[in-house]
Amino acid sequence: MQLRENQINGSTQLIVLIGNPVSHSMSPLMHNVAFKQLGLNYCYLCCQVFENQVEAAVNGLRALNIKGANVTVPHKQAVIPFLDEVDETANIIGSVNTIINKNGKLSGTNTDWIGATDSLEEHIPIHGKTIIVVGAGGSSRAIIYGIKKRGGKVIVLNRTLSKAEELGKLFQCDFGTLADIDNIQGDILINTTSVGMTPNHQQSIVTEKQLAKFQCVFDIVYNPLETQLLKLGKKLNLKVVPGLKMLIYQGAGAFKLWTGQQPDTELMYQTALNYLQKEQ
Ligand code: ATR
Repeated sequence: MQLRENQINGSTQLIVLIGNPVSHSMSPLMHNVAFKQLGLNYCYLCCQVFENQVEAAVNGLRALNIKGANVTVPHKQAVIPFLDEVDETANIIGSVNTIINKNGKLSGTNTDWIGATDSLEEHIPIHGKTIIVVGAGGSSRAIIYGIKKRGGKVIVLNRTLSKAEELGKLFQCDFGTLADIDNIQGDILINTTSVGMTPNHQQSIVTEKQLAKFQCVFDIVYNPLETQLLKLGKKLNLKVVPGLKMLIYQGAGAFKLWTGQQPDTELMYQTALNYLQKEQ
């Protein structure tokens, strides 16, 4: 049903975010602006869900016939046992960030990898590139999955070697510790750790000298919008990919699954950017 205004009425379809905390999420802003622009009668709201309520929250999606959901920290793994199906992508990545309600059947997938690969490919093709992924947490898994899918070669480096080794074995890629950065060659460097995030905005996961050999740098941290790592990248004239894009493109991936329509990602980006510029 097409509406001229974003007017909530009896036919409005609800999409929710399940996580804790959720109050700082930008997802409602970016999705609601995109629903409105396309005249889609949908509304996106955030639900703070405590750890002991994850099963009840997922059952609530079914009971209330909620059309879809995003899942964020700390519930991206915890929702899995309560869904009706989980696709291969989410199984390999090991977490769900998007739920689609298909006539009462809840299906889980993960669009974080799309967020990362679409952000990068706006600046540089992935196919054939050697990409150093720093960090071996949940974000790193999704990013490595995406890079491999788009034909890139990954080397994963992590402070704790055993976690890099685990991902290296899972995705059949080389791995090492942070110190190994001095001994390897690569085209693109991606920071998937929280290093550089406010209040530690002076920190960078690598030094200027270590960064100088890359063509492109991507930091998934978007608070601050321009991290110290990205500042170094700019100074060195590298292609610089801001973390906010990953948030937008993972959201766009989910939006398409819920509505069957492609949202205006530039509008979503500008809306989130305006908000963060005022906040930061
Ligand atoms: P996410 O799910 O967002 O990826 P995570 O699973 O907590 O978050 O992973 C955080 C990653 O950042 C880990 O790889 C962590 O390294 P360890 O495995 O050694 O803990 C990395 N990380 C966090 N703080 C770091 C720091 N100060 N220096 C280096 N790596 C750091």
